[in-house]
Amino acid sequence: MVKVVAVLYPGGRAAQQVPELLGCAENVLGLRPMLESRGHQLVALTDTGAELDQHLPTTNVLIATPFWPAYITRERMERAPNLKLLLTAGVGSDHFDLQAAADHGITVAEITGSNVVSVAEHVVMQILALVRNFIPAYQEVLSGGWDIGKIAARSHDLEDKTVGIYGLGRIGQRVAARLKPFDVRVLYYDNRRLSAVEEQVLGVRYVPLEAMLPLCDVVSINAPLTPATDRFFDKHRLGQMKKGAYLVNTARGRIVDTDALVEALKSGQLAGYAGDVWYPQPAPRDHPWRTMPNHAMTPHVSGTSLEAQKRYADGVRDCLLRFLDGRPLERDYLIVDGGKIVSPSYAYAYAARS
Ligand code: NAI
Repeated sequence: MVKVVAVLYPGGRAAQQVPELLGCAENVLGLRPMLESRGHQLVALTDTGAELDQHLPTTNVLIATPFWPAYITRERMERAPNLKLLLTAGVGSDHFDLQAAADHGITVAEITGSNVVSVAEHVVMQILALVRNFIPAYQEVLSGGWDIGKIAARSHDLEDKTVGIYGLGRIGQRVAARLKPFDVRVLYYDNRRLSAVEEQVLGVRYVPLEAMLPLCDVVSINAPLTPATDRFFDKHRLGQMKKGAYLVNTARGRIVDTDALVEALKSGQLAGYAGDVWYPQPAPRDHPWRTMPNHAMTPHVSGTSLEAQKRYADGVRDCLLRFLDGRPLERDYLIVDGGKIVSPSYAYAYAARS
């Protein structure tokens, strides 16, 4: 008997009303019939603290999600001697200490590609929300006002602007593709450069980061959170951006320094910020990003549209079936395997450290 623990967000009333809301603890990724009919145990939790801790010593497989993260530290792994597999229902496994997982021989996998379209659409929506000044315009309607001047004084066309993408992987490339009809210049920086043909097809130009930041009217962050990107957008890098630029971050909250961002928005160094990722999550009620000026943020929802939930639930099911049958997991899903960080998107940062 294998014990699988899934830590997922509470779905509330929506869990009953919308059975397709697979990513919540109530519907637990649709896994219950498959696991229980085979004699395995499935525990679904929303508590990422004491309740999860109680299960750690007896857990074989732990499923967590970036939207409602259970932070599985080295210390927690040491209290989980039977843990063999850590699965991310989604993309981005920084809530697991990857080096500790490698040291403990724990496999880490995520459902690569499952929600990349969902996030890319959210990025384009948030770029437009900022550049067009949508949020204040919508609030004007709700408040019964009609102050055209106030809204129009901060509203621009996206056309002919320069957009920089930091991390041109699966999501970054889809953002670039979706921006094509807007007639913008798209620059990118990634530590793995695309081929000339790929760049031509996507219509993107590689520029070293220091040169790219001052050129961009909009920057989208689409790189994973690693030791190399942790608080990478600090006071210094925000200061390198063009004055009055917009920043969109759907990658991870910790890639941007919390206080430096608030300061950059207050001083006008940045004209606006959007994204859906915070640190910590769930963001406390008094998180400074909730009340900073000129933002268009959402809770962490971009990668959990109903279509994305179906794709990552299917991927988690596939991983579990393979694990239970003793078959190897899909290679593209592996982040840590055989005591090594194997995902190219993460390995670069960890190799650079050692
Ligand atoms: P990916 O692995 O396809 O692409 C990441 C890209 O970032 C790669 O091309 C990699 O070379 C590059 N990169 C890594 N370190 C870098 C560095 N230090 N500087 C510049 N580039 C660097 O991953 P994908 O699918 O595009 O996702 C990217 C990130 O987006 C995930 O790691 C995750 O944190 C976040 N994400 C957020 C979601 C949400 O709901 N908000 C959902 C899915 C992913």
